[in-house]
Amino acid sequence: MYSLTDKKPFFVLAPMDDVTDTVFRQVIAGTAKPDLYFTEFVNVDRMQSPGREKVIPKLKYSDKETPIVAQLWGKTPENYYKTAKDIVAMGFDGVDINMGCPAKPITQNGCCAALINNRELAGQIIEAVRDAVGPDFPVSVKTRLGYNQVDLTWIEFLLKYKLNMLTIHGRTKAEMSKVPARWDLIGEVASLRDRISPETLIVGNGDVMSFEQGEQMSKQYGVDGIMIGRGVFHDPYVFSLHSPWGDMTKQQKIDLYTSHVKLFAKTWNNGERALHTLNKFCKVYIEGFPGAKDLREKLMGAETSDQLLEMLDEASEN
Ligand SMILES: Cc1cc2nc3c(=O)[nH]c(=O)nc-3n(C[C@H](O)[C@H](O)[C@H](O)COP(=O)(O)O)c2cc1C
Repeated sequence: MYSLTDKKPFFVLAPMDDVTDTVFRQVIAGTAKPDLYFTEFVNVDRMQSPGREKVIPKLKYSDKETPIVAQLWGKTPENYYKTAKDIVAMGFDGVDINMGCPAKPITQNGCCAALINNRELAGQIIEAVRDAVGPDFPVSVKTRLGYNQVDLTWIEFLLKYKLNMLTIHGRTKAEMSKVPARWDLIGEVASLRDRISPETLIVGNGDVMSFEQGEQMSKQYGVDGIMIGRGVFHDPYVFSLHSPWGDMTKQQKIDLYTSHVKLFAKTWNNGERALHTLNKFCKVYIEGFPGAKDLREKLMGAETSDQLLEMLDEASEN
């Protein structure tokens, strides 16, 4: 399983739509590498439609971001089957099924977290993916603790499928991101795993903000892996034990953003991603030094990547 079983805990960069594209994953590979990457979630029904070309950029990756798992979502088992075949052909290291996204338009359509209440379809999807990839290719699920309430029968149901990996975001669907993640319950999931499917790797997810905290959570709650999402917004070096981020100078931060923008411009040179999608990264890098707020406002006004790079150059101290 991605050669992760020897390392405890292994660290995983969370899938974040419109954030963790190949560009940002390469930036993180260059600051402090996690042990496993996920793509953004990719809709299987669009993948098997004329809209396929629009979704394909989400599956772009380089050899710097490996091992890497492609995350899928959608409704139709047949499209999961076909897309899982595509994923194997594209050289991914595993395939993950999103059964946790709580966004209303998605759950109203019966997808992602809605599968918690539709076990028949959830089972059919897992089986379709398994059939497509064969017995030796890793299949995993990322989910939550329940729909409206905590429901560990959902977790038991999933564990019976002997998944290679199960990621638990320690909240229910109804809780969105509004309450602290329930790590005590993530610990219970690890115990259920020991009883039902000892080979399944359990990844805990929710509110981990540092490498040290991740190690502590793994020790305390018995999970194999730790997934970090929003922690990278506060520290792009979050996957290192001794993060240099707090001591980094304005110039070092500008340099990091500059390298991100250059890679963005080179990678998405056909307009696959709008320039404004960089603004959330601007907030990550351009902070923690005098004048950061004014500089951010200026940079967010850039209309082309060349203009943005020029502004970053002007703001440089050397
Ligand atoms: C902007 C954003 C986009 C997200 N997109 C996805 C996604 O595509 N697939 C997924 O499984 N989870 C997605 N998530 C949820 C995260 O993977 C993660 O489960 C959640 O943020 C909790 O972890 P954290 O506290 O470490 O951020 C997203 C979260 C954010 C903030």
